[in-house]
Amino acid sequence: MIKNRNKPRLELFAHRIIDWQQQHGRHGLPWQGADVYRVWLSEIMLQQTQVVTVIPYYLRFVARFPTIAALAADSEDAVLAHWSGLGYYWRARNLHRAAQLIMQRHGGKFPQHFEDILALPGIGRSTAAAISAFAFHERRAILDGNVKRLLARYHAIEGYTGEKKTEAQLWQQAEALLPKRDVAVYTQGLMDLGALVCTRSKPQCPICPLQADCAAYQNERVAQLPTPRPRKVLPERHSTFLLLLNGPDILLEKRPGSGIWGGLWCPPQVDPRLLSKVEDANAYCLQQFGTETIHTLALSTFTHTFTHFKLHITPLLLQVINKPKQIQEPGMVWLDVDDALQTAIPTPVRKLLQELLAGRRLV
Ligand code: ADE
Repeated sequence: MIKNRNKPRLELFAHRIIDWQQQHGRHGLPWQGADVYRVWLSEIMLQQTQVVTVIPYYLRFVARFPTIAALAADSEDAVLAHWSGLGYYWRARNLHRAAQLIMQRHGGKFPQHFEDILALPGIGRSTAAAISAFAFHERRAILDGNVKRLLARYHAIEGYTGEKKTEAQLWQQAEALLPKRDVAVYTQGLMDLGALVCTRSKPQCPICPLQADCAAYQNERVAQLPTPRPRKVLPERHSTFLLLLNGPDILLEKRPGSGIWGGLWCPPQVDPRLLSKVEDANAYCLQQFGTETIHTLALSTFTHTFTHFKLHITPLLLQVINKPKQIQEPGMVWLDVDDALQTAIPTPVRKLLQELLAGRRLV
């Protein structure tokens, strides 16, 4: 009974999505219909970033690294530099590692088996499914953030979508709704509808093709679904950023590969408890970097929120009066602030340097 009632509804869902995508979805994106390397790259760039932001980065990236072999052969620093500004740099590091694994394990050819795709670093179940659907026309369900929101509303599924139980329910629905054919168009349609119509705030329900049987819409629950992430109090940490300036140059150090901002370039950081007064920074810099500095200015503290903690950052501006000719440490570099902005640096550091250049932090 239930099966017979549900069957046409399931097909109707996919039919509406496919129809809508053909008429109103996104067409002519540079990676649509491209080879699997480009599809993979676009899916990784699009994991946390919107299409309009991704396009210029994508074009520059494929111009510099046109093949998996070219990507695998270049240095991690070169790859990170081409990711500079896109943020979430672990994506670039995983992409680079995956390219090297494809060279080793698959003779340089992107694997076609779902399990092999899933085994590559940086590729989860949904991304593997999107690549399989777009590049190989395989019948696989996706469930990225936009699709979670869309399905949570369509079926009025309560519970935070990051929770295992809720996520399992959503996967079940995503699988059940898959059409038998046209999976690539359907997948693009789901993504586009989630990004353009079933938006987090101000969703465009009046123009949505699913409106007639969207449970959240019918029950006036759209604004309440999906259930927001439960609020938790994040632990707080403090860090002092030492902005050592020598004319136009700033001292940056490469962070360790794992942990926050892994592999990115940052101004040296110090635990503020080690500097009982700001003048202590001068002695610290002499000891650590062999630089004599004049303490210039403590800039205002700002907060950067990570998923697991809040970091309160106090930048200290230090004028260098004897830049050492040679840097002893391999993971350190003096860079012109303009060049630093072209390097893989964390977003809050980027903002800080931009403000520094614009003089806004100095007044
Ligand atoms: N988000 C993730 N993948 C996408 C794609 N292929 N097109 C548009 N948005 C996306």
